[in-house]
Amino acid sequence: MNDVLDFVSVRLDDENDELIILDQSKLPNDLIYHHYKTKEEIFKAITGLEVRGAPAIGIAAAYGIYLSIKHLNQKSHKEFFDVFEQNKDFLASSRPTAVNLFWALNRMEQCLMNNKEKSISEIIGLLKIEAENIRQEDEAVCHAIGVNALTLLTPNMGLLTHCNAGTLATAKYGTALAPMYLGHQQGYDFRVFADETRPLLQGARLTAWELHEAGIDVTLICDNMASIVMKKGLIDAVLVGCDRVAANGDTANKIGTSGVAILAKNYNIPFYVCAPCSTIDIQTGCGDDIEIELRKGEEITSTWYQKPRAPLNVKTFNPAFDVTDANLITAIITEKGILYPPYSESIKKLFEGESK
Ligand code: MRU
Repeated sequence: MNDVLDFVSVRLDDENDELIILDQSKLPNDLIYHHYKTKEEIFKAITGLEVRGAPAIGIAAAYGIYLSIKHLNQKSHKEFFDVFEQNKDFLASSRPTAVNLFWALNRMEQCLMNNKEKSISEIIGLLKIEAENIRQEDEAVCHAIGVNALTLLTPNMGLLTHCNAGTLATAKYGTALAPMYLGHQQGYDFRVFADETRPLLQGARLTAWELHEAGIDVTLICDNMASIVMKKGLIDAVLVGCDRVAANGDTANKIGTSGVAILAKNYNIPFYVCAPCSTIDIQTGCGDDIEIELRKGEEITSTWYQKPRAPLNVKTFNPAFDVTDANLITAIITEKGILYPPYSESIKKLFEGESK
């Protein structure tokens, strides 16, 4: 059997002009890899959650824009730049909340702008390298988040996580699951509780699967069981990933995360957000400014069931994310270090060096 950390959720097959995506919407029952060539296919893979999780979405979009312009070397510079911008806008419209999508596309655009005087074929070659860099850096970033997070944890702890912030959601290791993998390698014997994460079950289908495959002690619970496991003293820390951290530390993550944070506060359990710096968006002032993706009601009423489990045409409300207020977050763990409140200051300090 493959080591679960060897599963690659997004990879470029440059010889065949294809993006190979492990279809996360079919896990854990089927291990299916799709081979996509066009921006439309990659757009659909992102909206359909075949590739999901903030860093993996960014990686897919970076490769997607590269593939979409790879054969345009006959065009004039102006035509080439125009098509690049159109394709960028198209891919950027696939999902609104995870900032890594925009971060990765902007980084590709910056690479183009920095090299605009070069020949088109040289620019295309540099864009390929940039997309590869984004993927490779994510692996190193996630490893560093795992190392930093592990300094806050001790052996035999009970950990709770929500949604999937694991190896599937990133280039490797994950963010919130990275310390679980690294701790496992060092004999920490964590007991992990995975919220199933209604309505799309990323916790049950992906987190429980990943950790179970890796031989980590994982217990699946329904979302509404988080309170009882906390009250019973089974949870020593909560670790979650995130889709966007605002400049004041408010954090958007999978729907249900803010409820877990409120419970953790009630039971005096530390609540840690694991965030690559690419997920911190200093242009977004606070949580209210984060656009929350609304998805189809069928995901609540019918998905996973043979027959609908709700009255026909009942009204639904299906936000895919919610915002955890900064005051509920004990620390934000990045690859560059651990941030503590007040986040407006610690986040500002983190980015200060970059603008110089
Ligand atoms: O809708 P999804 O499955 O893309 O949502 C994913 C999450 O909310 C993850 O927790 C987040 O992207 C962090 S991934 C390291």
